[in-house]
Amino acid sequence: MLANKKRWEIGSDFDWSEEILISSPVSFWFPDKYQLFSTATASLLALSTVISKLPGKPLRIHVPSFYCLSVVSKLQTVFEVCWYRDLPGESSPDFDTLKPSPGDLVIAVNLFGIKSQQPWQNWQQEHQNIILVEDHTHDPFSLWAKNSKADYATSSLRKTLPIPDGGILWSPKNLPLPQPFGKESPGAYKKLMGMVLKRSYLKGLPINKDDYLRLIRDAQDELDDETNSAISVFTNNFLRFLDVESFRQQRAANISKFINLTLNQNNSYWKPLFVNWEQDSVPFNGIIVCQSKTIRDALRKYLISNDIFAPIHWQQPEQGIVSNDSKAIALSSTILTIPTDQRYGEEDIIRIVEILNDFVNLTNH
Ligand SMILES: Cc1ncc(COP(=O)(O)O)c(C=O)c1O
Repeated sequence: MLANKKRWEIGSDFDWSEEILISSPVSFWFPDKYQLFSTATASLLALSTVISKLPGKPLRIHVPSFYCLSVVSKLQTVFEVCWYRDLPGESSPDFDTLKPSPGDLVIAVNLFGIKSQQPWQNWQQEHQNIILVEDHTHDPFSLWAKNSKADYATSSLRKTLPIPDGGILWSPKNLPLPQPFGKESPGAYKKLMGMVLKRSYLKGLPINKDDYLRLIRDAQDELDDETNSAISVFTNNFLRFLDVESFRQQRAANISKFINLTLNQNNSYWKPLFVNWEQDSVPFNGIIVCQSKTIRDALRKYLISNDIFAPIHWQQPEQGIVSNDSKAIALSSTILTIPTDQRYGEEDIIRIVEILNDFVNLTNH
């Protein structure tokens, strides 16, 4: 944990301080040509404006059964959505359930940053008339992202970097890129205000937590309105001054520590979803699977009471949307994300695991 933080709290939105910026622009990998958006969802919606639609045929998009359903709900406004089975614990998508017609789009997701490129490359070779769109949100700078051969690729940069907005779209095949709609979103600046207040709160200032939480919530509502989907001037300027490489190293070290500390535990309440991953990949976070929904929900509540805010990636059904995959639905009721990102260090990870263990010990008696 950074030394100048006084309040110990894990997870939830990033805080902001210019202290994280480095003094000269870094040359971490970026695609040669790319378009920035306020959000990754906005980049996917904009894609519909550059895809040629066959007469009399809807624009159709195929999404994995384990995916962010608020994205799917937005996609439904411009695409006909179909599901195929892809579960984070499986080594490959179930391609038998993926049946696109020529001209359809297929979203391939590097779920939790632990999936591999090879199955998709093989599939793509046999499906050249399909538009393959990769989602690298969970590890935007992986080897797979850098070596992508997809038609298009996107990442929500704001999910792993401490910026108020930011989605990137590029085309490894050098296809035309869409423009964002409208102007930058005012939500980005509201979010930034919330992030600045959160920083002061964590430093121990008497800041009203509800105030910054409300700002962040309102900001998200505004970012959800993709009629203004240009990236903010703020994020556009600072993106190059983020030390992405050291963030990745810290994240990788934290996840290894988390797995090492939890791997040999003999508890029946939960286990890590994965214990290994592709070389040069950095998993999104520590992900655990609980024995039941009741245990997951009780654990989540216990973690909140200990200032650990563990999100669920992703609840199904959500906003009335549900996949057609019973395994994905079942997993969504037992999965939990334990934040282990670059904001934290070894001591934090040890403390998080101690709190997880306390839950097991307390509940066992
Ligand atoms: C894997 C994945 N892709 C895309 C998105 C959408 O990102 P954004 O909120 O920037 O639109 C999310 C959001 O949670 C996500 O988890």
